Amino acid sequence: MGGERLRSASVPEGEGGLQYHVRVKPGDVSRYVFVPGDPERVKKIASTWDEAWFVAQHREYLTYTGRYKGVLVSATSTGIGAPSTAIAVEELARVGADTFIRVGTTGALRRDIKVGDLIITNAAVRLEGTSKQYTIPEYPAVADLNVTLALIEAAEELGVRYHVGLTASTDSFYVGQERPGYRGYLPPFNRGLVDYLKSIGVLNFEMEAAALFTIAQIYGLRAGSVCAAIANRETEEFIVDAGVMDAIRVANEAVKILSEWDEILGEKGKKYVSPSLLRDWRRR
Ligand code: URA
Repeated sequence: MGGERLRSASVPEGEGGLQYHVRVKPGDVSRYVFVPGDPERVKKIASTWDEAWFVAQHREYLTYTGRYKGVLVSATSTGIGAPSTAIAVEELARVGADTFIRVGTTGALRRDIKVGDLIITNAAVRLEGTSKQYTIPEYPAVADLNVTLALIEAAEELGVRYHVGLTASTDSFYVGQERPGYRGYLPPFNRGLVDYLKSIGVLNFEMEAAALFTIAQIYGLRAGSVCAAIANRETEEFIVDAGVMDAIRVANEAVKILSEWDEILGEKGKKYVSPSLLRDWRRR
């Protein structure tokens, strides 16, 4: 019988706190972690930093750490969907991450959201199943205020097109987002879903934000999300990777901004960004 022996079946950690799935240990990652779904996007993100080094790769989880404009940052891919995202958050939090920024792709529901635009999610409709294993259905999947403001500030500074609002996170890319399944299958309860969500103010579909926000809120961690709209369900346009580099630029800049805000908040013993704090920040 071979193989590494972990601490226990209920605490599956290796030597020095090495996490079972993500294969990171304390000291390997920054407090600020970008969490795209795609491992290839981790490499793309890391290539935009001033320096970057490989940390670990196991299954869908690829991790790099580096520096962006002097700020220590990390990126870990979550794989597609809520279950693997929950594992990433659980394990990254155990090794010291406390701020998560999803850098994803998404399908826009509204005609005025162009393919290539960015969507910053302030709260998510929990159409996935993972968050329901953490809490009651009524619990809100809400993004952290400071992280969301930093994403908006970064998008403004960079002059990119962006929208802020509600996202629906599903467990299914096809029938769960009202796309025909194999041989045109579509269950009756998903017919009209796009129109219904649009009618109640939802901007877009993706698959990770709701679980990320719910878990982060429960644990007192911070999470936000910026996604590139690669598809539009009204116009039927779909352009692979449209806007992804803008999402990466915004996420990087947001962390730089957030780290400065965190410093000021720490000095003042405050928790939330406010207009007066922003005035002090601008004067620095
Ligand atoms: N990701 C999704 O979940 N849906 C889309 O339409 C595009 C990206």
